[in-house]
Amino acid sequence: MNGWPERRVRRAALLLGAALAAAVLGCQRQQPGTTTTTPPKTTTATAKTLPKASGLEPSQITIGFLVKMPEEPWFQNEWKFAQQCADKYGFKLVKIGTPDGAKVLEAIDTLAAQGAQGFVICTPDVKLGPSIVARAQSHDMKVFSVDDQFVGADGKFMDVPYMGIAARAIGEKVGQTVWDEFHNRGWRVEGTAACAVTWDQLNTSKERTDGATAILVKDGFPADRIYRAPEKSTDIPGALDAANALLTQHPEAKRWLVFSMNDEGVLGAVRALEGRGFGPDKVIAVGIGGTSAVPEFQKAEPTGLYATCLLASHRHGYETTEYMYRWIKDGAEPPKDTRTEGTIITRDNYQRIMKEQGLLD
Ligand code: GLA
Repeated sequence: MNGWPERRVRRAALLLGAALAAAVLGCQRQQPGTTTTTPPKTTTATAKTLPKASGLEPSQITIGFLVKMPEEPWFQNEWKFAQQCADKYGFKLVKIGTPDGAKVLEAIDTLAAQGAQGFVICTPDVKLGPSIVARAQSHDMKVFSVDDQFVGADGKFMDVPYMGIAARAIGEKVGQTVWDEFHNRGWRVEGTAACAVTWDQLNTSKERTDGATAILVKDGFPADRIYRAPEKSTDIPGALDAANALLTQHPEAKRWLVFSMNDEGVLGAVRALEGRGFGPDKVIAVGIGGTSAVPEFQKAEPTGLYATCLLASHRHGYETTEYMYRWIKDGAEPPKDTRTEGTIITRDNYQRIMKEQGLLD
């Protein structure tokens, strides 16, 4: 040794290590030209429990909002409310439509190039979860998933903050609404069939249609008269094709009950039924979403779309973005799993309820 007692050498090494760790922590996520006044945390336990403020000004924060189907009114609403959040706090929001995996990864790189610190995403495919997280981590970006929950290579949901609808409960509400109206109209089970436009590869979708099916069966509708029409895309054309294929197989049905994962699924089936002469007196369709049902409710004459379950698009757009903002700015981790509820609306009350929720002028 160079003459220093071993204890002093160890102490010096410890001090140097602590100074280095402090320098590294202090520099983390710093923007060029800014300094931090927050003392670095020195123990792992403290770093985990106490939020670490970034020291960033709102104007130094950029957040992405990526959606799988930008043409769908649901996602336009999410963007609208996310923008309201950005305007309130003064950070930058970048909205990108990402209909496939390649576009998602490209969008993450674009966001990184723009200095974004994180993004909210409704992925086009839940199995992309691991690649999305890996790409985000490579840019040191935070991820919040909305609507469709990431699934890992092991088939389990990933441990990424998520906000989705309470899918099973909402599906059950839809089933109950269909059943109540079936009764109101005094329809008989005989001669009535149900069409479930399904998209089972997505859990939140399967839960919705399974929930509606379970309620109908529980209430007494014959399970073997609930026919499934798997759609190839979750939009009106996809549902129209799926329903047409099903209707061809069941010329015996005189009246139809219809439900699906969203308004688009139900509207496709309503259009297919209209094409075969089934008007509103022979169809009870109940959607999920709300905004896509408005043009239908606004038609002078009722259509087969009897009702829909209005979802909380404000929460999915504004609140998710706000969680991301606080995470980046204040180090406040968002809740892991947030579920939102829905409200049944019909032609008779949609205007009042949607106005109350800021969804109609
Ligand atoms: C899925 C559906 C959308 C919408 C959201 C709500 O992403 O594709 O239409 O219903 O869920 O969370």
